[in-house]
Amino acid sequence: MCDPQLVSCFNLEMLRVEKISSFDLPELQPYATMKRPLEQERQGIFVAEGTKVVQRLLESRFTVVSVVLPEKWLGDFRPLLEARTEPITVYLAEKKILETLTGFSMFQGVLAVGKIPPPVSLDELLSKNDKPLLLVAVDALTNAENLGALVRNCVAFGVQALMVGETCSSPFLRRAVRNSMGTIFQLPVIELARLGQRHQFTTKPHVTSRTLVECLKELRERGVRCIAAHPHTDKKLLSQADFSDNCCLVFGSEGDGISLAVLAACDEAVAIPMPPTVDSLNVGAAVAVFLYEVARQRGKMD
Ligand SMILES: C[S@@+](CC[C@H](N)C(=O)[O-])C[C@H]1O[C@@H](n2cnc3c(N)ncnc32)[C@H](O)[C@@H]1O
Repeated sequence: MCDPQLVSCFNLEMLRVEKISSFDLPELQPYATMKRPLEQERQGIFVAEGTKVVQRLLESRFTVVSVVLPEKWLGDFRPLLEARTEPITVYLAEKKILETLTGFSMFQGVLAVGKIPPPVSLDELLSKNDKPLLLVAVDALTNAENLGALVRNCVAFGVQALMVGETCSSPFLRRAVRNSMGTIFQLPVIELARLGQRHQFTTKPHVTSRTLVECLKELRERGVRCIAAHPHTDKKLLSQADFSDNCCLVFGSEGDGISLAVLAACDEAVAIPMPPTVDSLNVGAAVAVFLYEVARQRGKMD
């Protein structure tokens, strides 16, 4: 039920404020199914959690569907909520109700559901961004925390878009969004349809029905150098690589690294030098090292 007293606190008709005592309502299902991320992905929605991440979502251009928070946070979020132009429902829930969602104590208890935007097209990407382009692609990266950290690094170093390969997890998984600290709301993403789901892509407007290999090939044809970050190449070290022109840096998975097909689709492979006793860096750390070198070569670290 809408609480007339609470609603009258808000100026805008777009906001609906409702007190809830459980997550049984159908419109609250995205919160109740937080542990079933594929359902959310199919619907083209994601869950943001934590005050900072929800705050960044409300400051972004992403469409927000609803917000759930304890009543004590309502005042803090009010200016951001009132500035939104789409219809949003704000559900007020006691912390103990919120904890039924996760089964453990939630520190802040602030959550929101947003819509995953449609992907940017390669045309848009190539024509609308400043040159030299800086893109990042990931192959078979499945760990949501790593994906989130990688997104955060990309935004920190001015990457213009992230291409997420068809064997990767979605960067809109709750843990990825949380680990990105909400920076995912600033990064254009091209998500490629997961293997076996390609025929369904039309039902998921945020997903593109092409493979990473196909996209890298097109990027190369259109003047973007594709550079694989590969710990096991002895051909070129990071300090010898040239990042002055348009480039797309390609990173691999936690276990197997870059697949042979993706490696073959790149112009070259480049390694951060490491002692023989260490196999590789964590992918998030490798991304930060590569992007620092790009920024240094492009004169952006002064
Ligand atoms: C944990 S590593 C993968 C390790 C994997 N065992 C392998 O053989 O490639 C994840 C990704 O981070 C990047 N990476 C990690 N260490 C790197 C290094 N020393 N040089 C270049 N890229 C690196 C690569 O893109 C790699 O695929």
